Amino acid sequence: MIILGIDTSCDDTGVGIVRDGKEILANVIASQHGFHAAHGGIVPSLAARRHSSAMHRVLDLALEEAQISYSDLDAIAVSSDQGLGPALAVGVATAKTLSMVCNKPLIAVHHVEGHIYSNLMSQGDGPSFPFLCLTVAGGHTMLLLARELGTYELLGHSRDDSAGEAYDKVARRLGLGYPGGPIIDALARSGNPEAFAFPRPMLANPDMDFSFSGLKSAVNRLVDRLESEGSPIPVNDIAASFQQSVVDVLVRKTLRALKSTGVRQLAVAGGVAANSLLKSRLESVCQEHAVSLYFPPKGLCVDNGAMIAGVAYHVMDRAPFATPELDYRPNAPLGTLEVKYRHLTKYAPRDR
Ligand code: KG4
Ligand code: ZN
Repeated sequence: MIILGIDTSCDDTGVGIVRDGKEILANVIASQHGFHAAHGGIVPSLAARRHSSAMHRVLDLALEEAQISYSDLDAIAVSSDQGLGPALAVGVATAKTLSMVCNKPLIAVHHVEGHIYSNLMSQGDGPSFPFLCLTVAGGHTMLLLARELGTYELLGHSRDDSAGEAYDKVARRLGLGYPGGPIIDALARSGNPEAFAFPRPMLANPDMDFSFSGLKSAVNRLVDRLESEGSPIPVNDIAASFQQSVVDVLVRKTLRALKSTGVRQLAVAGGVAANSLLKSRLESVCQEHAVSLYFPPKGLCVDNGAMIAGVAYHVMDRAPFATPELDYRPNAPLGTLEVKYRHLTKYAPRDR
């Protein structure tokens, strides 16, 4: 079964074509990073316009890469849940139109389930259920217990900014460009992580939730003060100290989740999974606690259509096909009735 998956949840226009949930025939991503750099961050309505103008080209390239045509497809899948509303709308409208015109079934996918599933798409060994998943990106930061495909328990999430958002906002304050994560990651290598004692938000709380907006504000206050004093801004030291705080919190909450669930496998997903310090700290913690650590295959960490096409192969077994009335849901929790959440009532990420 060959499925074409579309992801426009944030600022990447992704189209992937996957056979039987695993074999990636194409994975094309048109990034808007250069465009948003000029605005210092993502403007949802502008992201939507870029998706809409890039879509036909990305679709063409994906079909060309897979060396197939629309008639060879068995279904069209789309990220309809979780992301920026105007951006999601473009992918959903495209998928609905393709489904109607090409007469193919339509599969609606939760973007974060795609991220979790990306770990199961590697050619080598991936995690087996149950495993813990840290999804950490620009649009979401969550700790989930994946019991089986389609059954996820939300153990913790960010109550305000996601980790990636904090990276992007701090980079913007430091005048570093967008996306901020890779730039701060690179600068931090030549900075002193002990130079500034930034807070470790929510570490004292016994739960597994995160909060990154106070940390971002602490960086802003420091930069404001240094600027008002006319002092030079030690960008590399700030980058290293900020990164140390973010990673400290992510790693310690993840360790708490591993201990409280007793699972011995950890999968990491989302754009921030590319962070060098996060990777090395998780590697040593996992080694110390005899936990197996997994990252998605190259190209599947960031937002992409292949993970959507991959997981859609399984979603269609448990849910009816979507209808032409399919709507997008920017703040949809992962899963619906069949999924148990410990913190469902608390789960209310901001509409970005
Ligand atoms: O998964 P993704 O492509 O899109 C969202 O779902 O948001 O993640 C993008 C995010 C951005 O916030 C970017 O700054 C961050 O991932 N990111 C990083 C790194 N590479 C990308 N953050 C920290 N370190 C990195 N190396
Ligand atoms: Zn994402």
